[in-house]
Amino acid sequence: MSNIHAVVLAAGQGTRMKSKLYKVLHPVCGKPMVQHVVDTLAAIQVKDVVVVVGHGADAVQAALGDQVSYVLQSEQLGTAHAVQQAVPFLTGKKGATLILYGDVPLLSTETMESLLRFHLEQKAAATVLTADVPDPTGYGRIIRDSAGEVLKIVEHKDTTPEERAISEINTGIYCYDNEELLKAIVQVKNDNVQKEYYVTDCIGILRSAGKKVAAYRAVDPDETMGVNDRVQLSQAEAYMRRRINETHMRNGVTIIDPLSTYIEADVTIGADTIIQPGTVLRGGTVIGTNCHLGPQADMTNVQMGDGVTVSYSVLVDAQVESDATIGPFAYLRPQTLVGEGVKVGDFVELKNAKLGKGTKVPHLSYIGDAEIGEGVNIGCGTITVNYDGAKKHKTIVGDHAFIGCNSNLVAPVEIGKNAYVAAGSTINQNVPDEALAIARERQVNKPGYAAKLPRKQGKKD
Ligand code: UD1
Ligand code: CA
Repeated sequence: MSNIHAVVLAAGQGTRMKSKLYKVLHPVCGKPMVQHVVDTLAAIQVKDVVVVVGHGADAVQAALGDQVSYVLQSEQLGTAHAVQQAVPFLTGKKGATLILYGDVPLLSTETMESLLRFHLEQKAAATVLTADVPDPTGYGRIIRDSAGEVLKIVEHKDTTPEERAISEINTGIYCYDNEELLKAIVQVKNDNVQKEYYVTDCIGILRSAGKKVAAYRAVDPDETMGVNDRVQLSQAEAYMRRRINETHMRNGVTIIDPLSTYIEADVTIGADTIIQPGTVLRGGTVIGTNCHLGPQADMTNVQMGDGVTVSYSVLVDAQVESDATIGPFAYLRPQTLVGEGVKVGDFVELKNAKLGKGTKVPHLSYIGDAEIGEGVNIGCGTITVNYDGAKKHKTIVGDHAFIGCNSNLVAPVEIGKNAYVAAGSTINQNVPDEALAIARERQVNKPGYAAKLPRKQGKKD
């Protein structure tokens, strides 16, 4: 959107969080609160965004990167003081300026757009987004005159008993005519209970100057909630989780039990995928269509094709191609690439391993630092011995090789195409294509010898 600017306030410490992590960096559904605000602005094409940073400035800048500009508020004297730091950024600009708080993370793009549209239609000097809430404790109250027009905002701590009973609150999201904002912001004083410069006072200042002040009431008050402590953080998490799950369900994903399904904000899922309880999808995970996930599938930054099945498994930074089956009880660690139609069965751990199309690792294996070809059978209990105590080494297994049960492949080692490793072998030399390798002690049978062994026959210990 052209001629729309935004100031995001994110300089506070957030003492009520009782945390070493700065408040606006606390994640909601896997993403810092302030990042949600910035992403919503990006979604409605507001490109001219400045974030006011102070406490944890470096950390906030590191989280948001260069998609926004920054100004520093070195002392936190209140929300108006924070906006004052952005004055050089706003000076000389025309159009509308949104002011948002980094601790109000749930606002939808629809509400933000509606607020903007309403503000422009009303030709107001300022429009405040308000909400009617069952418990207004802690929020600024919207004071209206007898004609129903907004008169001012009074902070909770400064309210009279009658004002305290008002359930219409200030959400902390405003839209200003930029030039009117610049005139009002310099007039704010700190003559209040907290001795702070409140940005909320701009509303009263403009109204006293005879300017038009409008209010836009949010349709869904829940999405305007501010997060000041961990209880509110958990409420925000629950709200956003429900919204994310509902979006996926509306897009054709079946979620058997949304209350026990945790999907972070940036995950994408194809239609007709079915998600069983206890599934957690994090980070930039991308799931294809027709997958069956869970129960208990925990995935972080996984890239998955179509028709994949995963149950009771943990996958981190892994890629899984179409029609593979994972689990139950598999652990796929970073840099794992599971090819099309591969079977990774129970109690299998993969790390930095590539498994070609149709390969099977059905049970009880560790495959690390390995390149396994197509159509390979890795027998139960096979281990890649990749670490010599100092360095990691690579195992290569050619297409259609057969690795017998309980084999150790001591890396660096290469097993040729169509080769066959006998069960129980410890392979520490390369095996040529088509060859059979047996690397174990030959069996010795001693006829009748068992009877001579000392044993407590027929007795119990
Ligand atoms: C604020 C509003 C209140 C509103 C509520 C909505 C004011 C004075 N009050 O109260 O009317 O109902 O939000 O959630 O604005 N910040 C700075 N610099 C500062 C102080 C704060 O950048 O000097 C930032 C904080 O990091 C935070 C935001 O501004 O992201 C809001 O500050 P906070 O102290 O949480 O205000 P509330 O008491 O919640
Ligand atoms: Ca707050």
